[in-house]
Amino acid sequence: MQSNLYTLGEFTKMATDYASSLAPLPTRATVVGLYGDLGAGKTTFTQAVAKALGISETVNSPTFLIMKSYPLPSTLYRLLIHIDAYRLKSSDELRKLRFDELLADPQNLILIEWADKVADLLPQDHQKLYFEFIDDTTRQIRL
Ligand SMILES: Nc1ncnc2c1ncn2[C@@H]1O[C@H](COP(=O)(O)OP(=O)(O)OP(=O)(O)O)[C@@H](O)[C@H]1O
Ligand SMILES: [Mg+2]
Repeated sequence: MQSNLYTLGEFTKMATDYASSLAPLPTRATVVGLYGDLGAGKTTFTQAVAKALGISETVNSPTFLIMKSYPLPSTLYRLLIHIDAYRLKSSDELRKLRFDELLADPQNLILIEWADKVADLLPQDHQKLYFEFIDDTTRQIRL
């Protein structure tokens, strides 16, 4: 497992590099599980990935929406889907939003904050990124 400490600028750079390493899978959506406590950097990471993939719209924390989709301009994926599972009482709430259909489409890139809350819906071998607050200006990312 790779593990490193990042300032905000380095963190954003890391997310940009990560975005350029992403490639669609043949049979299902690409799923990236973002793990870590409040303020660890999950939304910040998603925003940087979205920017790197050409989304000009502001990507906010979808806490109150659960899920928000962004069309991707001329990249390998058609949609970036940002999910925040923090407030879900059970994974049924995500299932009801037809998550299985989103998961079945290889052209979808799905980033999920608090992925542990919906673990039973995710492919076991999804990409997992672990974020940790170190101090006010430093975060750890493990992948
Ligand atoms: N080195 C750093 N890397 C990433 N974020 C940093 C860093 N230093 C400071 N920050 C700040 O930490 C905050 C991280 O908040 P963010 O909303 O991304 O966390 P989160 O993991 O999504 O939290 P939540 O679980 O509440 O959704 C941002 O305000 C960001 O600017
Ligand atoms: Mg967040």
